[in-house]
Amino acid sequence: MTSAATATIRARSAAGELLRIAHRGASGRVPENTCAAFAAALALGVDAIELDCQLSADGVPVVIHDETLERTTSGIGPVAVKRWDELAALDAGAWRGPTFRGERIPRLADVLAQLDGRVVLNVEIKSARDVGAIEAPLVALVAAHDALSWVLFSSFHEAAVRNVRAASTDAAIGVLWDRRPATGALALADELHARCIVPSRRLVTPELIAAAHARDLGVWVWTVNDVAEMRRLVAAGVDALFSDYPERFAEL
Ligand code: G3P
Ligand code: MG
Repeated sequence: MTSAATATIRARSAAGELLRIAHRGASGRVPENTCAAFAAALALGVDAIELDCQLSADGVPVVIHDETLERTTSGIGPVAVKRWDELAALDAGAWRGPTFRGERIPRLADVLAQLDGRVVLNVEIKSARDVGAIEAPLVALVAAHDALSWVLFSSFHEAAVRNVRAASTDAAIGVLWDRRPATGALALADELHARCIVPSRRLVTPELIAAAHARDLGVWVWTVNDVAEMRRLVAAGVDALFSDYPERFAEL
């Protein structure tokens, strides 16, 4: 990450301002991980958007959280056994209400085109099944869209972020972390020259924040929907918050 997105992150950090991230887009009101959710997040003026990415059976990076289709689409079964043309035919909006009928599962390429560098994009590599197969094509896709300067890669799967680093020395990496000791995130971030650690809100302590900042690492915390908790975390010095309700950032 080298240009506009870095400037946004550094400027907000230097000014002590929070980086406001829409988790799966504005997913509290609009079907998660759809172009409608990303458009709603842009309209709210967020600084960044997070999405979840997996490979279709024919190797297309697609944007969906669950490894199965049932919860958020009209399809059934695992994402990984469906070709892109099959996934493209599914409805990904109606589960949140008739207004959203017709929303589709986007490809990552669609979202890169939609956002076009206006905000930072956090691409989370979601599925353990994709580790080893998704990283190099994902980095190549992002590079082909000239988007390495505004995309940050993350994953709960350590091998996935290691493979991203192997694929690109320029790729920005966030170390996603959901277990104790949370200091394990710092060690991996050091190893990978990551930009930030991305701990669960349950793991954040003043000591962790201080240790990250001493290493020039940001602390990006997920997923925070309660305004009082947002205020506490901001006061504690975190750099970024992920929320399903990015409209609530205005209340801070
Ligand atoms: O990247 C932060 C957060 O998205 C991780 O959890 O399950 O919402 O993808 P999940
Ligand atoms: Mg995610």
